[in-house]
Amino acid sequence: MDYKNCGPDAIHARIAELKKKFGSALVILGHHYQADEIIRHVDIVGDSLELARRIPDIEARNIVFCGVYFMAESAALLARPTQRVFLPDHAADCAMARMARAADVERVLEKLAALGMKTVPLAYVNSSLAVKAVVGRFGGAVCTSSNAKTMLQWAMERGDTVLFLPDRNLGRNTARILGIPGEKQVFISASGNDLESEAVRGAKILLWPGCCPIHESLMKPEMVDAFHSHFPGCRVLVHPECTPDVVQRCDGAGSTAYLIREVEKAAAEGREKNLCIGTEFHLVHRLMERYAGRINIIPLAQASCSDMEKVDAPKLLAVLEHLEDGTGVVSVEEELKAPARDAVVRMLEHCR
Ligand code: 13P
Ligand code: SF4
Repeated sequence: MDYKNCGPDAIHARIAELKKKFGSALVILGHHYQADEIIRHVDIVGDSLELARRIPDIEARNIVFCGVYFMAESAALLARPTQRVFLPDHAADCAMARMARAADVERVLEKLAALGMKTVPLAYVNSSLAVKAVVGRFGGAVCTSSNAKTMLQWAMERGDTVLFLPDRNLGRNTARILGIPGEKQVFISASGNDLESEAVRGAKILLWPGCCPIHESLMKPEMVDAFHSHFPGCRVLVHPECTPDVVQRCDGAGSTAYLIREVEKAAAEGREKNLCIGTEFHLVHRLMERYAGRINIIPLAQASCSDMEKVDAPKLLAVLEHLEDGTGVVSVEEELKAPARDAVVRMLEHCR
């Protein structure tokens, strides 16, 4: 049947019917930034770290990943050879991940090695599998926003300097937590044409020119100040992909899982009336609705991720309708598997 002209109720009913049909052969995973029309069908919802951690324990032959491409690629990497990972829209590709190309990362690491610097690459999970493979080959690891501090410490113990990519903001926010002074945090370009300076030679952390356009451009320090002056004594909590001048004005920063936990705690304790959350809008909106009447959740900005939004109920249904023939399967190039897995497993083992 063609569902293009069907209303939402028919689409949701058919998704539920297909889920029932596939039973234990199907698991649907969803990132917290997915819209409610997806979350209502998801079996496991989580942040990037939680979802990656759950993959090895999943028995189902079919894993439908509702999120963006790099997340589904990581799932495909960690899945068993007998399992298949599907992404309902392959065009759902994180804007930040697109800012680091594997060839550029490799060239920069080669140049740093030729300059005699022992550099450990640390890739935020928001990067392509090809980038993770380069990082794995150069002895580095992956991190998420939940474990960036632990993994930056891990990387610093293994080299003279760390190349943190793609997110310059998460890199700087984490470096600050570890007490790395500003002059030891050095921005570089993707061309690698600026690596011969004194500053680079003395750097503790080299920062790739990447960012999340949603967290960097739409969440501004003056918005935090405005909230604090409107609601004196109330907290602002943000995702660490926000710029350091935003994070430093806030009362806490952490992954999507951290933000949810803080809202849950605040609602349970009942001491705070208002709480401002700075991250992707679908998640903030869900929290606003879930805790309405108990705590007033205010979004720092109406910032939604257009890539996350690409996965919608009709596309989820289309994947389920064609599950048997494998439409929407995410495949991983054979030669990238071993080095990319090394980078991911270093994180999973160190953060066990
Ligand atoms: P988490 O690591 O908190 O899941 O965030 C992923 C992401 O894409 C944030 O923009
Ligand atoms: Fe990527 Fe930003 Fe969207 Fe997260 S919110 S998936 S970092 S573009």
